[in-house]
Amino acid sequence: MSIKILGTGSCLPEFVLNNETLTKLVDTTDEWITLRTGIKERRVITKESIKELSVNAAKSALKSANILPENLDLIICATVHGQYLVPSLSCVIQAEIGAKCPAFDINAACTGFIYGLTIAKAYLESGAAKKILLVAAESMSEVSDYTDRATCVLFGDGAGAVVLEKGDSLLSIFVTASGNEELLTIPITKGNSPFVDHTNEKMPYLDMKGPEVYKFAVQAINRDVLKVLEDAKLTIDNIDYFAIHQANARIVDAASQKLNIPEEKLLKNIHKYGNTSSACIPIMLDESIREGKLKKGMKLLLTAFGGGMTTGAAILNID
Ligand code: ACO
Repeated sequence: MSIKILGTGSCLPEFVLNNETLTKLVDTTDEWITLRTGIKERRVITKESIKELSVNAAKSALKSANILPENLDLIICATVHGQYLVPSLSCVIQAEIGAKCPAFDINAACTGFIYGLTIAKAYLESGAAKKILLVAAESMSEVSDYTDRATCVLFGDGAGAVVLEKGDSLLSIFVTASGNEELLTIPITKGNSPFVDHTNEKMPYLDMKGPEVYKFAVQAINRDVLKVLEDAKLTIDNIDYFAIHQANARIVDAASQKLNIPEEKLLKNIHKYGNTSSACIPIMLDESIREGKLKKGMKLLLTAFGGGMTTGAAILNID
């Protein structure tokens, strides 16, 4: 299948928001957050912007790929909440890095990076693009309600990026959507139209039915992992590492136990970054490659789930 990863990059905000600081904002404890989620701290935007995070991640990926911005044919950015509604974050990145190619955003919530890979694959296979920059960037702190203890403790900000060209590294890929407006929403502001009743308008903050999303996630991971393994004619034993979307350490543990994935094959960053939505997997990918954990010839299985509800999985050969 038509993808080869030429380079990776990532960028996180400087400010570390630890559990202790959150106890001063909402009625929670370090113990509750650690036991129920596995999160100890997360990075959140203070002086930076999502533009800065995504541009830095993009530049770092281009540098590691040794590709000049003018040689890109397409920029795709996965985000639920860019710098503006318009222009898209991908257009903002394009201008900042000095690229000339088409650019657009996609929103598949936490599954955005895997959805981005499916689009990149189609462009590369058809010959419509030869070099693609795929960025996933999220500023979840800007849509979190810091008076809601059930959600504000979960999320963090960050950006990850990859540069892709045609190759044989993508062994299988699968995405799903099952539309649902109940489990997870982030409302948009409705402006000030005098022709609309604004009385019961919701604030533009993330709202989630946590326990239901939890059950959905464990089932989805199980189904999607088995599907991509079957499509690639591989088994759990053939996979060197699993990058499971870091929404909650308990979700990762429950799903991996069900699938008999050994603990040492799990990539993890939830303890230090929380749930960074679509940015989570490319950040893990970049850090694991730079740390020398993911090496040439290894097989990595990615899987994610998120608002929509969306899900997806893919198997990549690292080369
Ligand atoms: N501190 C202390 N107590 C809390 C906190 C907190 N931060 N949050 C909730 N509680 C309380 C609740 O009020 C409840 O109290 P009660 O029993 O008196 O009513 C109790 O803890 C248990 O609450 P639950 O919601 O049942 O707790 P649960 O163990 O399910 O954990 C959580 C909640 C962490 C949200 C979990 O359900 C979860 O991880 N869900 C999945 C989230 C997810 O995967 N999101 C991904 C998509 S994100 C995207 O797409 C952008």
